Amino acid sequence: MPARLFLSSGDLIADRRYDFARDLQLRGDLPAAADLLQQAIELAPDFASAWFTLGEIRRELGERDAAVEAFREARRADPGDRHGASVRLMQLGAEPLSAMPAGYVQSLFDQYAPRFDNALLNDLRYRGPSLLFKAVLAARNAARKPAFFKRGIDLGCGTGLGAAAFAGNVDSFIGIDLSPGMIEKARASNLYAGLEVADMVVGLASKPDASADFVLAADAMVYVDDLAPVLCEAHRVLSPGGLIAFTTETHPGEGVILGAGLRYAHAQSYVRTSVAAARLRLVHFEEASPRDESNVPVPGLVVVAGKS
Ligand SMILES: C[S@@+](CC[C@H](N)C(=O)[O-])C[C@H]1O[C@@H](n2cnc3c(N)ncnc32)[C@H](O)[C@@H]1O
Repeated sequence: MPARLFLSSGDLIADRRYDFARDLQLRGDLPAAADLLQQAIELAPDFASAWFTLGEIRRELGERDAAVEAFREARRADPGDRHGASVRLMQLGAEPLSAMPAGYVQSLFDQYAPRFDNALLNDLRYRGPSLLFKAVLAARNAARKPAFFKRGIDLGCGTGLGAAAFAGNVDSFIGIDLSPGMIEKARASNLYAGLEVADMVVGLASKPDASADFVLAADAMVYVDDLAPVLCEAHRVLSPGGLIAFTTETHPGEGVILGAGLRYAHAQSYVRTSVAAARLRLVHFEEASPRDESNVPVPGLVVVAGKS
C-alpha cells in the first residue's frame, strides 16, 4: 500500500490530536479515535485528513450516514479531493459511479512511486505486461504480420513496466500518466522518447490522427470508469492496421462496478460493446488475472483490438 496522505490543518494541536487518533485507529480503538478526530475538527473545521479518517472510522463502525457526511466534509475541505473521498462515497453507494478525481490518482501514485515496482512485482505478482506481450504476439501471428511497431503510446505508463515488456518491439514510446512522481520514475527508465503528465484522454486528444500504430494500457483502465472516450480517441490516433492492447479487472455481472480494492471492474459484455462502439475490431479477448490481491488472483481481461 502507498504511504498515507496527510494534509496538515495548520494548527499544531489539531495535527497532534489527529496523530493520536491515528494511533488509536491502528490499535483498533475506533470510538476513542473518532472522539479525538471530532476534537481536531472543532479546532480546525477545514482539516481534510481528519474528516477523511473520521469517514473511514464511521464506516468501519457501521455508521453509514455519519461516514457519508464526513467524506463529504473531507471533499469540501479539499476540493481537489486528494484523499479520494468521492471514491469512498461511490463505494458506500451514496453517489453514482463517476470518474476518479485526478487529484486522488495523482496523490495515490505520487506516494506509491518510490516503492511501486517492488510492490507490484513482488507483493502483487504483477503479470499484466507479460500477458499483454503474449497477447499482442498471438494477435500479430494470427494476422501473419510482424509484431513490430514504430510509434507507441503508453497510457497510464507508471514507472514503465508495460513499456519494458515491449521495448524490443516498439521503436519509440510516448508515455502519458497523471502522476508526476510516476513520470519521474519513467524518465529514469530511459524507455520513452517523450513523457507527459496528463489524463490519458486529454493526452491522446492532443495527438494527430493516425500518428501511432500501437497503444498500450497496462493495469491503467482499472482507474477509468467509462472506457468509451479513451477507446474513441485511441481509434482516431491509431493508423489503419494499428493495435490497442489493455488489461482490466472484471466481474461476472453487467456494466462497470467499483471493486473492494477501489478500482473499477468492467464486465466482459461492457468491454466488448465499448470496443465495438469505438469502431475497433477485437482480435484477442482472454480471461486472465493481471495481479494478486491478498494473495488471490484478481479476475481480469487481456484485450487486443485493431483499427481496420
Ligand atoms: C497500476 S499503475 C500501472 C502502471 C504501468 N502501466 C504498469 O504496467 O506498471 C496505473 C497508472 O495509471 C495512471 N493513471 C490512472 N488513471 C489515469 C488517467 N486517467 N490518465 C493517465 N494516467 C492514469 C496512474 O497514475 C498510474 O501510474
